[in-house]
Amino acid sequence: MKRFDNKAVLVTGGAGGIGLATAERMAAEGASVMIADYNLERAREQAARLNAGGCRTEAVFFDGGDVQSAVDIVRETVRRFGTIDVLVNNVGGNDLHRDLDIVNLDIDYFDTIFHINLRSQIVTSKEALPTMMAKGGGAIVNVASMSGLLGDFRGSMYGMTKAGVISLTRYIATQYGKQGVRCNAVAPGLVMTPAATGALPDNLREIFLRQNAVHYLGEAADIAGTIAFLASDDARYISGQTITADGGMSCHNPTVQDIIELSKTGGK
Ligand SMILES: NC(=O)c1ccc[n+]([C@@H]2O[C@H](COP(=O)([O-])OP(=O)(O)OC[C@H]3O[C@@H](n4cnc5c(N)ncnc54)[C@H](O)[C@@H]3O)[C@@H](O)[C@H]2O)c1
Repeated sequence: MKRFDNKAVLVTGGAGGIGLATAERMAAEGASVMIADYNLERAREQAARLNAGGCRTEAVFFDGGDVQSAVDIVRETVRRFGTIDVLVNNVGGNDLHRDLDIVNLDIDYFDTIFHINLRSQIVTSKEALPTMMAKGGGAIVNVASMSGLLGDFRGSMYGMTKAGVISLTRYIATQYGKQGVRCNAVAPGLVMTPAATGALPDNLREIFLRQNAVHYLGEAADIAGTIAFLASDDARYISGQTITADGGMSCHNPTVQDIIELSKTGGK
């Protein structure tokens, strides 16, 4: 018996990066997985590839900026699989040309980023919860970010949307736990997906490597493993939590690396 046998799972942004790794992981563990993505062609390709390996996956178009699209993908999952047991709210993103420090950010980008990163997660949850409660339960896993927990020199609105995702997680867990629904979030640090690496020069990569407690940078599969755990019965006593998956970047005093460097040069 696999962990997700007979479970219907919806993964938003499932055609690439963390979403695809999650779809792969949960499908390999027995789930029927709906891959929802605005790159429908790639979603279909990935679904076909997984199905050729014996999985059961399907693809559906999803526009994270559109409310009706968020409603539609939940309905389509229920229509094709008969129900929805697990919702993975993974879609999110940022335009670092517009989302800067507070003084210089482009406030006209506010609606776009809040709609994609937070409103879409509210709407899919709102649509999926009644079905989950009617069958006695389910699990929602939201993909937040360390940016929702810490300050940064840019990406201000992104951080605020992710803080909203963390709050949404607690509200869902509080309001629907008694009806059998658990809701948790994962807060990744830097993860080597195409979106992240595209914006990452080598010198920045070195900074992240230096600041991580572990000696490597995270892969999409690392976050997928955390998501699958939170969605599974292995996490049945965990709800309303945000699990940090950042290679230990946020576990230490921020001065540690500087003081190590100083000690190498004879300083204290
Ligand atoms: N990669 C990181 O370093 C990192 C760190 C912290 C948090 N996150 C969060 O993890 C999640 C996934 O990140 P990723 O790096 O895998 O993303 P990604 O940019 O690689 O995208 C993953 C998939 O989402 C789809 N997608 C993107 N925007 C969409 C939209 N508006 N509507 C529908 N589909 C859309 C893309 O087509 C792609 O298939 C996001 O919520 C992101 O904020 C990522």
